Amino acid sequence: MPGPRLALLALLCAPLLCLAHGQQPPVTAPSPRKTLHHQDAHARVFREEGVWNYTTMLLREDLGLLMLGAREAIYALNISDISHSQSAVYWRVPEDKQTQCTYKGKNADVECRNYIRTLHKINSTSMYVCGTNAFSPTCDYLVFADGQLRLGEVHEEGKGKCPFDPLQRYASLMVGNDLYSATAINFLGSEPVLLRSSHTTLRTEFKSSWLNEPNFVYMNLVPESDNSADGDDDKVYLFFSENAVEYDFYSKLMVSRVARVCKEDMGGQRTLQRKWTSFLKARLDCSVPQPSLPYIVQDIFLLSGDSWEDGVFYGVFTPQSESSDLSAVCAYSITDIRNVFSAGKYKTPVSVETSHIKWVMFSGDVPSPRPGACINDAARKQGMKRSLDLPDKTLQFIRDRPLMDDAVRPITGAPLLLRRGPAFTRIVVDNVASLDGQTHPVMFIGTENGFVQKAVNYGGDMHIIEEVQPLDTDQPIKTLRLSLSTGQLYVGTEAGAAQMPLSDCGRYSSCLDCVLARDPYCAWSLTDSVCATLPRSPDTDDGSLLQSLKAGDASSCPEPTPVASKATHVAMDSTVRLDCQVDSNLAEVSWLFNGEPLQVLVQKHYLFPQGLLLLSASTSDLGEYTCQATEHSGGHPYSHVIAAYQLLPLQPVIPEPGVGEGGGEGGDDQGDGTDEDEGPGATEPPVSKVTAPKKGTTTTGGDDDSTPEQPQPNAEVRQVTGLQVAVASLALILIGVLGVGLFLGRGRIRSRFRSTPSSARNGTAYHPAPQGKEDNHRTDQNFNTPTTVTFSGKGVSNGPSVAITTIGEESEI
Ligand SMILES: *[C@@H]1O[C@H](CO)[C@@H](O)[C@H](O)[C@H]1NC(C)=O
Ligand SMILES: *[C@@H]1O[C@H](CO)[C@@H](O)[C@H](O)[C@H]1NC(C)=O
Repeated sequence: MPGPRLALLALLCAPLLCLAHGQQPPVTAPSPRKTLHHQDAHARVFREEGVWNYTTMLLREDLGLLMLGAREAIYALNISDISHSQSAVYWRVPEDKQTQCTYKGKNADVECRNYIRTLHKINSTSMYVCGTNAFSPTCDYLVFADGQLRLGEVHEEGKGKCPFDPLQRYASLMVGNDLYSATAINFLGSEPVLLRSSHTTLRTEFKSSWLNEPNFVYMNLVPESDNSADGDDDKVYLFFSENAVEYDFYSKLMVSRVARVCKEDMGGQRTLQRKWTSFLKARLDCSVPQPSLPYIVQDIFLLSGDSWEDGVFYGVFTPQSESSDLSAVCAYSITDIRNVFSAGKYKTPVSVETSHIKWVMFSGDVPSPRPGACINDAARKQGMKRSLDLPDKTLQFIRDRPLMDDAVRPITGAPLLLRRGPAFTRIVVDNVASLDGQTHPVMFIGTENGFVQKAVNYGGDMHIIEEVQPLDTDQPIKTLRLSLSTGQLYVGTEAGAAQMPLSDCGRYSSCLDCVLARDPYCAWSLTDSVCATLPRSPDTDDGSLLQSLKAGDASSCPEPTPVASKATHVAMDSTVRLDCQVDSNLAEVSWLFNGEPLQVLVQKHYLFPQGLLLLSASTSDLGEYTCQATEHSGGHPYSHVIAAYQLLPLQPVIPEPGVGEGGGEGGDDQGDGTDEDEGPGATEPPVSKVTAPKKGTTTTGGDDDSTPEQPQPNAEVRQVTGLQVAVASLALILIGVLGVGLFLGRGRIRSRFRSTPSSARNGTAYHPAPQGKEDNHRTDQNFNTPTTVTFSGKGVSNGPSVAITTIGEESEI
């Protein structure tokens, strides 16, 4: 196996894929800037108990509905809030049918059910719906009237309109009263067709040169007759993958394809009777800059422009070998695809040796009218008004040679987005006008682990604005629908459907956050100090809004209000948790201690994604801690303070006579324990500058009248979970065992902590360790619960406070 694969790669590589491609790893997009899990995503969700497979959707903006097809159910949901079902119909498989299905060797509870697969608009009240119906596809009419859904009783044959097998991909489209469908027409799934169900029903030939074990993905109409200079016809484009016939390899090789047919095709008179006379297909390339087998198309979206010529097909592609975790987005212009079909060369089969067929470029004379072309003015002039009038020569040519020699290449020659990680499954694209009057295609990409990534490509610069998990499931995204009238995205999975806004600018809480998001839907309003949603066609820029999409330049942002430092009281020898929640995945976190970069000591500091653990606090650890996030954008660092803490002793440190007097008094002065803001002088974090707060041990204002004897537990120092402490101790022990020593590089330590799962935070409940003697005199029982953890072992608390000016003798405590 590896041998042939390599040979195959080499063969592929030479002629078509790997020209001028170096061996260096491809440039991939950075992490999504933000990650929103479902509990923060606030998506509206629809699911019904006992019903699964919510993967077929039809937007009925005219009725204010989202039609949702699931297993044995169809729902009419309120398009503004899909958690409200207006009406539902259930379409179950009759028992005898299910039994028959099981006799044929299918699983009763999985395959022998009715999965709704086709849902199309017919007119203002009616829809056409098909279901797999226990491996005997059936279609019917669905009427929405007086707020109620009703399923017809026609129960038409659905063979060829809808798959037998619910696990098989398919594509379908309603054009006028004609249903175009691409699916298998038989029980075994071995006879694939592109079928038009109309009064002249047309289909593809059953030949492997037409369709070779295809996986259908997407279909859409392009109205190419609009303003056509040569009287051309409208066309239906079909995207799929299939086994290649044009490469002869040892193992099966898949390729991505685009095919098209003419809307007015009526088939041939003798040759290609009731078959397409206009079926042409070409390879669709989305080559990743490294040698690989062709990438396989998973989904396509047509982004329409002002006229059909401006239309662009966006596709998501994944590798056909399991060895890569890259996914790609490529975009193709309609005019490029059209040129391949209308002017490109054909491929032709030639037999070499005995029984062996090779596909090569056809270099002979091409008959006229051009094979596969729609009937146009030139053909009409020759007296051919319908495809039925086409000469046999033209029809025989196309029957045997539906494959074009040229491949369709992406607009920019390369993927618009390339990313490692969970595979891309679906895509929709919105063209968004930004403040500068330009438009930017914003890609919403579903992934196999239930996230939707919102991505842009700013002149070659790939940027993923965010990733959102709309449902509490890691099931793949199976359906995406975009509604411009509601500004919502509709998401379908096997476990449920969800709705989320295309943008939620209000989530960006500061100017820096808003501008660095580089989200074309949003701009920072200098007058209102909010991240505002731009109208779909923004008015002329009056200078009150700030947006910097390509450059990501946030230097015009006003200085943020300084973050007040929180007075935090700690018991000596305890573990203190200082929270610092950075919500940009692109930001780096750094801590300052009394204005200087904190020197991270292995046995003292434990950095984790949500903050800092200070182990075995001693008086030398008292002082000002500042957590700062730095994000690089457009080559500039932007820093801002996330949190600042003033660490104070829990109780007046009882100084040894003559030693540490000052420290003790400092504690006394500030022992009021309130959460009042410190004076703004405590921290002055300017934008794009490293903050250097003043030494924090002196009084910084906020002297309140509460008594020092009753300090309150500080809310910011939250519970340290047992798990985190365990992880911390384990890490320390490990480091000790490995003899790594004290002076590990900070970066190394940090990356270790980055990988700590965030779930650790919500892990086990916190059990305060038995309090030491120093707490005994206190009466307030609530006091000692959340703030501190005491390690029983002294082994970890021997840190002799390197690089920090010693205030007192911690060994006394
Ligand atoms: C329907 O959903 C269930 C539950 O997620 C899943 O296991 C099953 O594969 C789905 N069936 C089909 C045909 O997709
Ligand atoms: C809609 O289409 C259905 C099915 O073809 C037909 O019976 C019905 O009369 C049509 N209704 C309207 C309002 O055109």
